[in-house]
Amino acid sequence: MVKKKACIFISGSGTNLRSIIKNSRDYNFPVNISLVISNNKNARGICFAKKFSIPHLILDISKKKFEKIAIRELLKRKIKLLCLAGFMRILSKNFIRNFKGKIINIHPSLLPKYKGLNTFNRVLDAKEKLTGCTVHFVDEKLDNGRTIIKKRVWINKNDNSKELKKKVQTEEYKAFSMAIRKIYSLN
Ligand code: GRF
Repeated sequence: MVKKKACIFISGSGTNLRSIIKNSRDYNFPVNISLVISNNKNARGICFAKKFSIPHLILDISKKKFEKIAIRELLKRKIKLLCLAGFMRILSKNFIRNFKGKIINIHPSLLPKYKGLNTFNRVLDAKEKLTGCTVHFVDEKLDNGRTIIKKRVWINKNDNSKELKKKVQTEEYKAFSMAIRKIYSLN
């Protein structure tokens, strides 16, 4: 099986990156992680790119310069799928148009509920019983594109945001790779 090339954008701890890299080593996984780009020079996730010998770029620069270099690299390396895994910068409409239908993101809520930041506290404040995560295609609006996969997490009465984050992230690690498999099984 010829694997497609994927790139992952990160800004922080990179635990989703780690799980996708691990799953991508499976012979039947449809993509190879060929590049990791961080917009934050202090992102802990960079260590996973190093550990698994994946080419990585640290572009801790203005959004305009970041996007110019990133587009060049994605095209040069023939990247077919771009995964946003804890990437904390909103991409420009122009960037998204360049890779229409090829960018996916993970969000820690059951979209369309709780778009944006600080999801766990908002979910708890609203006394929700159920939350989860969503992997979706990226369009020009924030946390908005077509859903690929959702995974649900039940909230216990005593859960605080730290516990809830842990439970949701455990599901994220499964959801992201499932979503990638699903995209290519539909093609
Ligand atoms: C995840 O919870 C994801 O849903 C959100 O940012 C977090 C990233 O965590 N977009 P990590 O960097 O993958 O550890």
